[in-house]
Amino acid sequence: MKFALVGLPGSGKSSVARHLAQHYGWASCDTDTVIESRIGMPIRDFFAREGEAAFRELETQALQDCIQRPGPLVLATGGGIVLRAQNRELLRQGSLVFYLRTTPEELARRLRNDSKRPLLQGGDALRKLRDLNAQRDGLYRQTAHYVVESGRPTVWGLLHWICMQL
Ligand code: S3P
Repeated sequence: MKFALVGLPGSGKSSVARHLAQHYGWASCDTDTVIESRIGMPIRDFFAREGEAAFRELETQALQDCIQRPGPLVLATGGGIVLRAQNRELLRQGSLVFYLRTTPEELARRLRNDSKRPLLQGGDALRKLRDLNAQRDGLYRQTAHYVVESGRPTVWGLLHWICMQL
């Protein structure tokens, strides 16, 4: 069984995946980490040099790479993974997908000191997060088998639920 986490930047995908992997001894894969080790630089720098289209290409390759790994796995994805229909299909067919849903207001609060995320740079992060949410919420819902609110109690509820399925 593979589990994948999708949602906006700051929704907790990477940290939930890390917790799951640590607590239950599962393998994990994070598309952003796979990409960064391949390009040898932070994603922010790659965006500035090569642009978003080049990044999306690498992102699909990283997703294929993670999904093809044998055995159980928890997979954290970049917030834009759902933009490509090909990725949505890969995720839905290859894993059980959870959408960690959080309001743009809460995300803006969590990310107020963030400098890593290229799509949120240049001021007014809240407006940018609202736009991303408007563009992507439907895509996350289409891709996910389950929608969970990414507040703390539900994340632990989610962990427990997953473990009961194994
Ligand atoms: C992106 C989100 C980032 C990263 C890249 C693009 C996006 O991942 O993949 O900067 O399009 O929302 P996080 O969701 O982990 O921030």
